[in-house]
Amino acid sequence: MSATQEATLPFGIDFGGTGIKGAPIDLAQGVFAAERVRIKTPDKSVPEAIAEVFVELLGHFPEASGPVGVTVPGVVHHGVVRSAANIDKSWIGTDADALFTEATGREVHVVNDADAAGLAESRYGAARGHDGLVIVTTLGTGIGSALLYDGTLVPNSELGHLEIDGHDAESRAANSAREREELSWTHWAKRLQTYYRTLERLFSPDLFVVGGGVSKHSEEFLPLLDLDTEIVPATLRNNAGAVGAALYAVERGGR
Ligand code: BGC
Repeated sequence: MSATQEATLPFGIDFGGTGIKGAPIDLAQGVFAAERVRIKTPDKSVPEAIAEVFVELLGHFPEASGPVGVTVPGVVHHGVVRSAANIDKSWIGTDADALFTEATGREVHVVNDADAAGLAESRYGAARGHDGLVIVTTLGTGIGSALLYDGTLVPNSELGHLEIDGHDAESRAANSAREREELSWTHWAKRLQTYYRTLERLFSPDLFVVGGGVSKHSEEFLPLLDLDTEIVPATLRNNAGAVGAALYAVERGGR
């Protein structure tokens, strides 16, 4: 890739509980245009501390000067973070677009982490070319969800917080619940069955895509599910967040 092409590349940042990863993104292919850099998430992950990490991260790629997309594991409404189920509560009410734009001197747009993954899977991955309603779920510390209808994102669906049998769904069916309670794949799959069956009844989707780190073990649990809807693993794996965030930033930038 020439230096001029690289100069216009957008940048994607995946802000997670343990690591913050970023890379310039090639949106024609939906791939990292250079090797990503990972920085450990600060222990106290308040917005100002995270902004400093972003400045450091972007400093590694002086040649990529396009818009910057950032995933956040919470509701994001017009750049303002509105919920913080698994992150520091000080995020709530933070105008993250403004804070990060000011700190980095770049055009920054934040997007819910699952919505970013959903956009990426829809454009480049497991849901590419699928019309109708696609529900992308990410099974990690929490459960994230993205609703896409004919490829268009309906943001902030937050289906990990459906109340099922009196419980917040992610507290029972997220991958963190499997690890915390040391559940077998079979036991966990029963909980996933209840979860996806509920989604199916509520939304009648055309396709489920299952992402999150555990999706690399999908053959251990997806075949145990009995659903009417096709359910497939995500294909972009760990790159989905950063790729989707960059895509979001570019598409958002024009508005
Ligand atoms: C949050 C969502 C997020 C998901 C995955 C949930 O607890 O409420 O906003 O997408 O976790 O990180």
